[in-house]
Amino acid sequence: MEPNIAISMTMYLIISNIFLYSFASEAPVHEDSKLVNPNDYFGSGINTSDLPQPGVGVSLNIIDANKIPALKSSSMSIVRGDFDPLGGVPIHIHPHSNELVVGLKGSIHVGFLVPCSLEQPTCKSQHVTKILNPGDVFIIPEGRIHYLQNMDRNASATAFTIFSNIDFFIPPLIGRTIFAADPPVDDRIIENSFRLDKTAIEDVKMKFN
Ligand SMILES: *[C@@H]1O[C@H](CO)[C@@H](O)[C@H](O)[C@H]1NC(C)=O
Ligand SMILES: *[C@@H]1O[C@H](CO)[C@@H](O)[C@H](O)[C@H]1NC(C)=O
Repeated sequence: MEPNIAISMTMYLIISNIFLYSFASEAPVHEDSKLVNPNDYFGSGINTSDLPQPGVGVSLNIIDANKIPALKSSSMSIVRGDFDPLGGVPIHIHPHSNELVVGLKGSIHVGFLVPCSLEQPTCKSQHVTKILNPGDVFIIPEGRIHYLQNMDRNASATAFTIFSNIDFFIPPLIGRTIFAADPPVDDRIIENSFRLDKTAIEDVKMKFN
């Protein structure tokens, strides 16, 4: 073997081992069969939701690495959402997570928006939307503005959402982020961004504060 190649291969082995061991040392759960604790892989309680979100008519049950330690090394989490009649998860974004929505009960309107490029400032964004009935599945790509909404006035609805990330968090809702800021975002900036007049802006700000 040429010395250069031998050196490269040795370097490669050292570097790949450093990578392997640095990941292994971060792994929360021992894969050594004698040390595996079944409870690190197990969770329960997703038969119900108990975390009502103020003002939006949805209760959540989040099963992430806080409840199942093995999820730390799996890049996944699952959330159950129970929607009141007309309840929904308002427009928001998960910057680092795809979201797989599985309809379980009732019907849920889901959708995400694909914006135009900057070169076409007057074109319309594409609205990708479906109504999910029990057994239907919809994927929301990471980084897309999206929503989930029960449009039924009389019936509640339920969905499971599976996230491709361990650090699931209740996402900042775009409306609240903009209209309930401290210090407030200047009306002139909101007017420029959303083409709302001052009265409408003040009205919306009041509803969020
Ligand atoms: C959910 O399941 C648990 C058992 O894991 C049970 O004790 C509880 O009563 C169930 N709750 C509902 C609302 O079905
Ligand atoms: C919802 O409930 C209202 C009042 O009880 C009733 O008039 C209406 O027909 C119901 N709508 C549906 C879709 O069931």
